[in-house]
Amino acid sequence: MTILVSGATGTVGKHVVEQLVNKKVQVRAVTRNPKKANFPEGVEVVVGDLMSPKTLISALQDVTAIYLITSSDQVDATLETDPQIVELAEEAGVKRISLLTVYGDGPVEQAIKNSHLEWTFVQPVGFMANAIDDWQESIQKEGAVCMLGGENRTAIVHEADIAAVFVETLLGDKYHGNFYTLTGPEALSAIEQVEIISKVIGKEIKFKELTEAQARNRWQEIGLDEESIDFMVQMSNNPPEIGYTVLPTIECITGHSAKTFAEWAHEHKKHFIK
Ligand SMILES: NC(=O)c1ccc[n+]([C@@H]2O[C@H](COP(=O)([O-])OP(=O)(O)OC[C@H]3O[C@@H](n4cnc5c(N)ncnc54)[C@H](OP(=O)(O)O)[C@@H]3O)[C@@H](O)[C@H]2O)c1
Repeated sequence: MTILVSGATGTVGKHVVEQLVNKKVQVRAVTRNPKKANFPEGVEVVVGDLMSPKTLISALQDVTAIYLITSSDQVDATLETDPQIVELAEEAGVKRISLLTVYGDGPVEQAIKNSHLEWTFVQPVGFMANAIDDWQESIQKEGAVCMLGGENRTAIVHEADIAAVFVETLLGDKYHGNFYTLTGPEALSAIEQVEIISKVIGKEIKFKELTEAQARNRWQEIGLDEESIDFMVQMSNNPPEIGYTVLPTIECITGHSAKTFAEWAHEHKKHFIK
């Protein structure tokens, strides 16, 4: 059995690769930059672009199942996976797709539902790893986190737990046709997350709540467009219920309890120490 892992160098994808390798499953990892990628021994590396699915035709041969992403959070990547990948997967004889979905109802989701493939859609809420992207620099340089909406709670989820769910759905027979929302085990505010990181690194981290105008300025400074800024403000003023409602899905599917943010912070503390 060979599993094709897209987004294999991403926050979740790298855990999917590692966990499949640990289970002795043959992994074919997709990347646009094989020179930058660093995969475990035995992983077959293929070059491909999800926005040009024909670049993956040969990579799809002899594949049983695909871990598929539809978009990227990386600032330097524009990714909207072309739904043609689904047709090409069917033609190649792929049996199953497990999709990391963001909104649940885009063109890739439609193409999968219209296909004969077995499918599972997995929709995680915010990743614990966002703490690195969002706060690493200011914690290291200023010992502070400044943001809008510090009291809003999110049931942030550990990336390895998301990957563990994918491994089950890629390898197991009983998940076809299901849509799973994944959360961590507790809904934490940003202020509480910062307190946990502070405790783990043994250093005070100040939290400063920004006004909406200050937050808008900061987002403009880093080059976000007005539409994205309005979206971020709306999310801060009116966080959606799905983001803070704790669900037992990870434990139900993997058989182990979802990891806490304190565990995540211990594993990643080097990112917050200068
Ligand atoms: N951060 C969150 O809180 C959050 C919450 C819910 C859902 N999500 C979604 O979760 C998904 C996975 O996130 P992640 O953090 O694991 O990945 P990520 O860091 O957002 O995305 C990077 C991955 O996407 C690949 N990629 C980017 N453009 C590509 C293209 N044109 N063709 C092929 N591969 C491409 C990159 O591969 P190479 O650079 O190696 O080619 C890399 O492996 C994303 O869709 C994200 O939107 C994120």
